[in-house]
Amino acid sequence: MNSPASIPLHSGKQPIQQGNLLEFPKNPIDCMRRLHAECGDLAVLEDNGQRIAFVFSPELNRQVLTDSNTYHSQFFALRGGRRSAQRRVTSGLLSMNGSEHRENRRIMMDVFTRRILPEYHNTICDLSHSLMEDWELGQQRDLNVEMVHFMLRMTSALLFGIDDAEYSVELGSKIDRWVRQNHEVGIGALVSAPEFTDSYGTLLSMADDLEASIKEMFAKHRDGATKGQRSDVLSLMFQAQGSEQQLSDEKLLGHATLTFAAAHLTTAHTFSWTLFLLAQHPEVMQRLAEEIAQATTGETPTFQELQSLPYLDWVIKESMRVLPASSYSQRVTSTAATLGSLNLPQATPVIFSQFITHHRPDIFEDANEFRPERWETASPSAYEYLPFGAGPRMCIGAPLAMMELRTALAVILKKFHFQVNPGTTVNGQVISTMLGPTSTVEATLLPTTELPSTVPVYGSIHDLIDLPSAAKPDAIRRAA
Ligand code: HEM
Repeated sequence: MNSPASIPLHSGKQPIQQGNLLEFPKNPIDCMRRLHAECGDLAVLEDNGQRIAFVFSPELNRQVLTDSNTYHSQFFALRGGRRSAQRRVTSGLLSMNGSEHRENRRIMMDVFTRRILPEYHNTICDLSHSLMEDWELGQQRDLNVEMVHFMLRMTSALLFGIDDAEYSVELGSKIDRWVRQNHEVGIGALVSAPEFTDSYGTLLSMADDLEASIKEMFAKHRDGATKGQRSDVLSLMFQAQGSEQQLSDEKLLGHATLTFAAAHLTTAHTFSWTLFLLAQHPEVMQRLAEEIAQATTGETPTFQELQSLPYLDWVIKESMRVLPASSYSQRVTSTAATLGSLNLPQATPVIFSQFITHHRPDIFEDANEFRPERWETASPSAYEYLPFGAGPRMCIGAPLAMMELRTALAVILKKFHFQVNPGTTVNGQVISTMLGPTSTVEATLLPTTELPSTVPVYGSIHDLIDLPSAAKPDAIRRAA
């Protein structure tokens, strides 16, 4: 938390606004859009001497993201006491800085790049088929619920080697609830609001419970893992522990928890948004269906076939541009720093935003529209398009996430198309930095011989992106 500065906060023109810091956590996207419009690429929201700084341009993104010595990661505002379970379960990459981060990241990168990707192909295909096992043509499904559940199973399988559906949902949901509680209590830490910090006790007991569950899962897993027959990420971490003696049990516990937390909802939200966008853009769905039909044979695409689906890649990239599951991230200054025209005191939170950067019209034409074709020519820099972050803390799971998305979408779309139900409400909201649907996304299962049509929908989705005019609520009013 940041107290009134002994150093002058700014020099030259002031992009500082007095306001209520709670405006940011209540609706991060609206708050950032307003600050960007009113203050420009660099903004500071100040409330009784407490401040949050915001950067909105690729160049400022670059400055903040490349200088990891000055801009520390502080994903979890509340780490708990030194010997607490909260401290241990938050001890993963997202909370580390400096040499500790570099060393642990090296070990994790090694784990993530070792012969994993081709081996995961079969697991992803199997789970995609099992997702559709009880789907029938004409049925109504909530795309959001389906994808969150699907990714609980997938993430538990790929990261922890868990193939028991019930157990994976139980453990994964526990991690998700704990992440959400961190976010709620963390807002209190950011803005010093007592109403948020009341739930700190609940957070600590959730961490105790979560730690016990992760330890139990480790115990169940260990026997199988040491036989070297398994290729889930945890098995590889156990092996790294054995060979390098550098990963203590405590570190492993934090890495396992935070990797799951980083992997699950980000990927689930990306799936939900992509299926929703495809259903509302039939011409995109048609081109994609043609590509999948031409490039793949059989019910299940092979690993090789999946390497030649360029349009599918554009669809995923565009979905992650226009509705990035990671909508913003936070750093905190480890020392007094100069950023653009500002002098920031030590411990100032600094926010950068994928959502704002990806919606800049000077980088992407018709930036609020979903247009996969733009990727035929678009070649943004790493700081203009950053769904997985950029620089020394860029997502280590990006290749795995892309493989999950590419593979599962191809398998699913070979069997079903989706028609969003007319008049359904689609709300998007940022919770714990992640932009996901917070309402049902009701859809009907279509055969692949049919294309969906664009239908009017209600909800805050219209504040986030420009859907085709047939999707706007006035289409419902006109028809009435
Ligand atoms: C579509 C899915 C995903 C998205 C959008 C996403 C996004 C991100 C972003 C933006 C960051 C950087 C955050 C920052 O700079 O503060 C990040 C970091 C990270 N992600 Fe992902 N991620 C995804 C999937 C995954 C998966 C599947 C895994 C693991 C299996 C994973 C593990 C991590 C880890 C461990 C970090 C921390 C890296 C570090 O601090 O060095 N992510 N992710």
